[in-house]
Parts: sequence; structure tokens; C-alpha cells
Amino acid sequence: MKTLREVGIAGTGHYVPERIVPNSWFESFLDTSSDWIESRTGMRERRFAAEGEACSDLCLHASRRALEDAGMTPDELDLIIVATVTPDQLLPATVAFLQDKLGASRAGGWDITNACTGWLSAMMSAYGMIAAGTIDNCLIVGAEVLTSIMNFQDRGSCILFGDGAGAAILKADHPRGRILYTSSGMDGAQWEAISRSAGGSKRAITHEVVEKRDHLMALKGNDVFKFAVGKFRDLMREQIDALGVGYDDIGLVVPHQVNIRIIESALKKLDIDMDRIYINLDRYSNTSAASIPIAFDEARKAGRVKEGELISFIAFGAGLGWGSVAIRW
Ligand code: UT7
Repeated sequence: MKTLREVGIAGTGHYVPERIVPNSWFESFLDTSSDWIESRTGMRERRFAAEGEACSDLCLHASRRALEDAGMTPDELDLIIVATVTPDQLLPATVAFLQDKLGASRAGGWDITNACTGWLSAMMSAYGMIAAGTIDNCLIVGAEVLTSIMNFQDRGSCILFGDGAGAAILKADHPRGRILYTSSGMDGAQWEAISRSAGGSKRAITHEVVEKRDHLMALKGNDVFKFAVGKFRDLMREQIDALGVGYDDIGLVVPHQVNIRIIESALKKLDIDMDRIYINLDRYSNTSAASIPIAFDEARKAGRVKEGELISFIAFGAGLGWGSVAIRW
């Protein structure tokens, strides 16, 4: 890959809402059990945003922590990209609220709607612009209030998700966290596997839509499961081949926190053990665009990311789409 400037990660941060919701909470209104949820997903609890706590509020906390980690002030930011499928409102982009709350007076910005792959999409966009010299730095935030679109009558989906935000600051020529490899893809023909079919320009929200709960997220869990296992493997293999390294050279994989069984199944045919995979889905469940940046920040702060190590990010989700990034810490 030819780059004009190197791009590194100057700081990271994350935020999760205070309210902890254990699996047992769902037993009170759904035909499910804590054991079923944990054994089928690896999830034990998740965080739910407080009433009135919007996506930009979560972004704000995570962004301030990333800025502090980078030793930067908001007015130094050139660009902010927010990845989310649960914006504060449909217009304007959530980044407008974040830019205002942060006081990032010089920054431009936009949102990216690419679900679980969204934060890596934001990273790839910022990387290209910084490498080309268009900007010198960018705050990328993955944040979701998925509780705002979860169908709490569907036991096959609502048990899987949680709310949270993760952020990073990409900077030109920063020596740490250099981006070495990026790749993305999509199979749009499979869009129905994860969707929220009403509320956009194709289908307005009507009384009928609300009665059918089509304004909420719908999932074909089994289809996504099969797709995700294969895609995880392919992305890992492609990354290794492109970098010309072996599995032993990878220090840590930070995957989308989708389901422990998906991750374990994918690894069966790869020469890499679970102790080099960072997992926090037991505590936060699936937070879509926020999942990788929360996990990466946690991993760093827990001492799991060592200087000089190769770190691999793997994401897949609605679209169906996918992305993969490798960095050197
Ligand atoms: O980030 C992308 C978004 N995430 C996803 O798309 C999730 C990917 N998929 C998955 O994680 C898994 O497919 C699920 C966790 C959603 C489901 O696990 P599974 O092992 O694939 O179960 P299944 O869908 O094959 O269902 C097995 C049984 C069914 O009952 P019958 O037909 O065998 O009688 C389901 O109705 O489990 C039932 N079931 C439940 N039972 C108790 C489904 N959800 C639940 C539940 N509690 N919450």
C-alpha cells in the first residue's frame, strides 16, 4: 500500500453507561433464561443508557478521554467522524452535537452509518485523508444507544446488544499505532440479515409500521452466524497474507464483540489461540460500532497491548459488510 504520510493512534478512550443489565433481567418478560443467553452467546451483562442519554452524550465522554490520552485539546481537532446507527436524531448528523458539546471549533465532521463495521470505516476514511495530507488529525468515535432500536419482544435479538462508545485520535506521523493494512468489503444482497426497514426514505414510520415493530432492528441470527464465522477466517487470512507475517507475529486480535461461539468457531481453523483475542462481550454484549474501540481502549489500559506488537481489528455486520485493519503499536 502506497502512503504519502504515516498515520498513528495518538490516544484512545471509551465510555459505557452506568446501568448494568444482567441476563436475568430478560427472564422477567421473555421466554428465555440467563443460562441460555450465556451458553449461546458468552454474554452475561450489558450497559443501558439512562433515559435521555443520547448517542452524542456517550460520544462526548469517550472523546474527552481520548483527547486527554493524546494530550490534545478539542480546538486542535481537524475532523471528527462519528460511526453510529443510533444517531441523536435523523437530521443533523450526530457529529454536529458532539462538535458543539466538545467545543471543537476548528473541526469539520460527518457521520458514518455502517453498523458493526462503522468504526473501522471511520478509521479507513480518516487514514486516507491524513495520509494524503488533507488533514493532520481526526477524532473517530464509534457510539451506539442500541436500546433505542431494540425490539424487546424478540428474544432472538434483544438479548444481544448494549450501549456504549469508544474513540481514538488518528494523527499524521504519530509513532505509535501506525496503520499498516486496511481492507473492506460488502455483500449488499444480504441486507435483510440485519435491518431496520422503516423510518428512512423507502418506508415512512406509520401506525401500521409501529404495530408490526418494523421501526426497530430485525435480525436473522442464524444467517449472520454462518456468515460471520467464514468472514472472520477470511479476513484474518487475508490480513496475514497481505502483511507477509505468520499468526505468531500477531500480538492481539480485537474483533467485533459479536458472540463468543462465532469467534471460537472461526478460530478453530486458524493457528491462533483465544488468549490472543481480546474479549469483553461478557460484560458489554454487542455494542455495534462501539464494540472494537471500547475493547481496544480496555485492552490497552489492561496492559494487553505491548509496544511494537501487531494488533489486528476484525469487523463484520449489517450490510452485510466487513472491514479489517492492522496496526503496529
Ligand atoms: O453484530 C451483528 C449482529 N449480531 C448477530 O447478528 C448475531 C449473530 N447470531 C447469533 O449470535 C446467534 O445466531 C443467536 C445468539 C442469535 C442465536 O443462537 P443460535 O445458537 O444460532 O440459536 P438458534 O437461532 O438456532 O435458536 C435455537 C433455539 C430456537 O428454538 P427452537 O426452534 O430450537 O425451538 C430459538 O427459538 O433457541 C431459541 N431461542 C431462544 N431460547 C431462549 C432464540 N433466542 C432465544 C432466547 N432464549 N433468547
